[in-house]
Amino acid sequence: MTSTKNFSRWADSASARPTLIDGFGRRIDYVRFSVTDRCDFRCVYCMSEQMTFVPRAQILTLEELAELGWAFVELGVHKIRITGGEPLVRQNVLWLFQRLGQLRDYGLKELVLTTNGSQLARLAADLKAAGVARLNISLDSLDPARFRRITRNGDLATVLGGIQAAQSAGFQHIKLNVVILKNRNHDEVVDLVRFAIDKGLDISFIEEMPLGQIGDHDRAEAYYSSDAIHADLTQVFTLTPTTETTGGPARYYRIPDTDSRIGFISPHSHNFCEDCNRVRVSAEGRLLLCLGQENSSDLKSTLRVYPGDRERLKQTIISAMVFKPRGHDFQLDGQPVILRHMNHTGG
Ligand code: GTP
Ligand code: 5AD
Ligand code: SF4
Repeated sequence: MTSTKNFSRWADSASARPTLIDGFGRRIDYVRFSVTDRCDFRCVYCMSEQMTFVPRAQILTLEELAELGWAFVELGVHKIRITGGEPLVRQNVLWLFQRLGQLRDYGLKELVLTTNGSQLARLAADLKAAGVARLNISLDSLDPARFRRITRNGDLATVLGGIQAAQSAGFQHIKLNVVILKNRNHDEVVDLVRFAIDKGLDISFIEEMPLGQIGDHDRAEAYYSSDAIHADLTQVFTLTPTTETTGGPARYYRIPDTDSRIGFISPHSHNFCEDCNRVRVSAEGRLLLCLGQENSSDLKSTLRVYPGDRERLKQTIISAMVFKPRGHDFQLDGQPVILRHMNHTGG
């Protein structure tokens, strides 16, 4: 574990409910669990074409993930987001959603999921029944051929069917996640917003982050800033800034007379690290304290060496808070500093 210099308090024992506070005084109430690094897509900004995945024995079991959920909620976390790879390709993952859904009686306010949408036609109704509150679904293009080029093997019709299934299952505030790449899909932002408005969906535009070697394009050349997207959108729509938040990094705008929120996730142009409220657990059980740094703590060892010892697990998590860095150091030029691909953390 590497360390940061500045820290004050990390577990606020004075309050009635325990809270996780990092060395910069930020309250951590949101945790993201990557339940698998595997995926049925190979999005160009996320993976290289040939990927080696972690052997199954090295990834946390569903029981271990459930135990982690309980530990985090007992530490005051009130939002758990399940991510991947593609979380819904993990076998029996519904069991985990059902277990974590029970935590809503113990302080969990939101159990949420980020998905590529490929399995939703099959699973949306069961996810809703398990207590999943919101879905974020990746959708980088409305053109089938382009969609295929960006995801390398995704099928647009299947994902659109998944979105439809999720709406039919009663999910509200579904958010589309769009990673915008110059000369790949930057010219689709207006059409994507029209689609979101038409379907009653929220939408977030994301600046690509340099995690891992991807080999497909030059990330600096593909950079298209949130401000550029905003400018393109204001040619057609009136965007009104809001202070609304979904607890993640997006800054939201509204378009009058529509239900859609238009979000911008801008790690390069509008750094949001100062307000960071989240940590993530990789599929291998590493507690990663920042998406853009390697500071981490090994939760898998604690889970496996001391099975059932929740107090020790909680203590390991509390002790790690001091290692949460101030923020990322993403640089688009040159080689990525973080060698892990995005599928290890699910964003
Ligand atoms: P909401 O709950 O809807 O606010 O979701 P979210 O934006 O927190 O999660 P989602 O999984 O939809 O992530 C959208 C994008 O935000 C992805 O590209 C993530 O990598 C990125 N993101 C989420 N949290 C962080 C963060 O802490 N740092 C950085 N740099 N990016 C993040
Ligand atoms: N930069 C920004 N966002 C990314 N995602 C995957 N890889 C990257 C990247 N390099 C997004 C996906 C998904 C979410 C989990 O993270 O599009 O919506
Ligand atoms: Fe799979 Fe998501 Fe990565 Fe695309 S961004 S390859 S859907 S994990």
